[in-house]
Amino acid sequence: MLRQALLAASRSGGARRVVETAPFTDDVVRRFIAGETIEDAERVTTDLTGEGLLVTLDVLGEDTHDKGQAETSVQRYVELLERLGSSGLGTRAEVSLKLSAVGQTFDEDLALDNARLVCAAARSAGTTVTLDMEGHTTVDSTLRIVHELRRDFPDVGAVVQAYLRRAEEHCAELAYEGSRVRLCKGAYAAPASVAFTDKDEVDRSFVRCMKVLMAGKGYPMLATHDPRLIDIAGALTVLNERDADTFEYQMLYGIRPQEQRRLAAQGAQVRVYVAFGHDWYRYVMRRLAERPANLRFFMRALVGR
Ligand code: FDA
Repeated sequence: MLRQALLAASRSGGARRVVETAPFTDDVVRRFIAGETIEDAERVTTDLTGEGLLVTLDVLGEDTHDKGQAETSVQRYVELLERLGSSGLGTRAEVSLKLSAVGQTFDEDLALDNARLVCAAARSAGTTVTLDMEGHTTVDSTLRIVHELRRDFPDVGAVVQAYLRRAEEHCAELAYEGSRVRLCKGAYAAPASVAFTDKDEVDRSFVRCMKVLMAGKGYPMLATHDPRLIDIAGALTVLNERDADTFEYQMLYGIRPQEQRRLAAQGAQVRVYVAFGHDWYRYVMRRLAERPANLRFFMRALVGR
């Protein structure tokens, strides 16, 4: 119920104005966002990679309805990737791209062309792109774009959301050699006709998907902070005789940082998803929706001032 309310607020202009201008907002945002500028992102990436972690960088912004704004998003990615290339960070840091930031909402072909520009910049920087998966109505379009891009850029990462009823089918289709696939639970509101709405059902789907990906020939990227699922991933590694360099764990910046370091110290590859930029509102609201305790933190910040 609370989750649905927060996800609805993430799409509401009125709620956005209240939250963005509230004095407590800074503390909440700083927990999940690396900062606003490319310099902030570079500093955090240098720190994390210095600790043995990998990084995927997200330039915040989504659901663009304007061609000019989509071009601006592409430029910011290209600028970021040039910086990763020149600093040498491209060997340890890739980027995550939301197609809705580069035109998918109003023109799929434009989004494909724009994503191509980002992939070409990533290749020049010696790194890769993963296409984030957004709301359930965009899944087919995003998978079409993944397949199209992979003709020229076979290392483009895809994302499967375990809460979707079709998730296991998507994993089976994507578990081929060279295919980088991020598996996550799914962070958007979705109706019961297309998604599991019960938490245990989502977790069971995650396990089924993980089994398919870990037994397959691709490169699984297991994006979860859930301790039970991380334990099961460890067991599947042994069962499928996978070496540590054939898959990776992924977690979000600011969430379970000790666990990120514990796994890396054990020899696992761990990639931290680092979001930065001004347009943080929807991203942060999704983080609040994921965990009731975050809302308490948010409310304490609100009444504490
Ligand atoms: P779950 O929500 O059950 O949390 C398990 C435990 O992790 C909690 O008990 C808590 O300890 C900790 N935790 C989780 N979320 C927290 C939070 N916000 N604050 C504090 N603690 C928290 N989604 C999507 O739809 N499309 C996408 O492309 C991506 N991409 C993506 C990349 C990466 C690297 C990650 C880690 C996640 C995503 N997601 C995503 C988000 C994902 O779908 C999901 O919403 C979150 O990861 C939370 O789910 P968990 O698997 O962590 O489990």
